[in-house]
Amino acid sequence: MISLKENRKNMNILITFFSATGNTKKIADVIHKNLCDSNFSVTMVDITSFFSRKKEIQIDQYDAIVFGFPIYSMRAPRVCREWLQTLDGKGMNCSVFFTYGGFGKDPAHYFIKRLLEKQNFNVVSTAEFLGAHTFNHSGWKAVMDRPNQLDFKVAEEYISKTVRRFLGDDLNELGDFDKPIYEENLFDKAEKYRFGLITKLPTRDSKDCSMCGLCEKLCPVNAMDMKKGIADNRCIACFRCIANCPDGVLHTNDLSNSWDKKLEMHKMTEEEVNDLESKIYL
Ligand SMILES: Cc1cc2nc3c(=O)[nH]c(=O)nc-3n(C[C@H](O)[C@H](O)[C@H](O)COP(=O)(O)O)c2cc1C
Repeated sequence: MISLKENRKNMNILITFFSATGNTKKIADVIHKNLCDSNFSVTMVDITSFFSRKKEIQIDQYDAIVFGFPIYSMRAPRVCREWLQTLDGKGMNCSVFFTYGGFGKDPAHYFIKRLLEKQNFNVVSTAEFLGAHTFNHSGWKAVMDRPNQLDFKVAEEYISKTVRRFLGDDLNELGDFDKPIYEENLFDKAEKYRFGLITKLPTRDSKDCSMCGLCEKLCPVNAMDMKKGIADNRCIACFRCIANCPDGVLHTNDLSNSWDKKLEMHKMTEEEVNDLESKIYL
């Protein structure tokens, strides 16, 4: 519970998040509960599905926004960055938290702060939380059991400190993040790299499909065709269809051979990745 004087709690806070496999939503839920328990007025908007990002959000009715995104190729997902470019913060306070699978998270903080400032937001804090890597669904073993209770504790601390900034009770400002050594076009190239890794778009591999249509309905980019049982090249490899298929009939290629290479590339052991801690930036 956030300890504040009762008369400071008439603030309207929006939490909006993208979460293909549920990690970011878990952190958003902790933040939501914490704010509700402290009697703030809170609205949650899930922008993961294709159509949810087409609906306009009247951000003027809120006093502050908490954005939650997974990290895709060291930045917020492209679809989220494009969606953010449709918003005008008009000087509003906001904060961003990420979930990530243990690798290359620093550029995400730098680029999101820069983007949100361009959209006229004032970024008061950011945070990063460990979340089982999406590619674990296809053979990786990165931070398998995260976010866990320790991560949720950090989430509580994060929102408590962030709200103090929103209210003006803490007048310190978020400093600048180090500029990544590479230009943004190199990150665009890295984004495409995953398609060198994921050579097979999510595909139905078995006849035991109940044709429930969830894969098509949930796809954040409208790439899945339930009848054909395969995604087209709009697929962003978020694995939402694979993770949520009730029949377990959707798969991509097995990535287990690339797990050791991934660790080698980042000069980390599996234990070191698993021991990473969630972190708040104020
Ligand atoms: C296309 C793609 C790229 C990813 N890139 C990174 C990355 O650069 N670094 C990282 O640590 N995790 C990366 N991840 C893992 C996700 O950030 C992580 O699993 C996140 O918690 C997923 O959030 P969600 O469950 O809310 O969708 C990537 C996942 C996907 C699907």
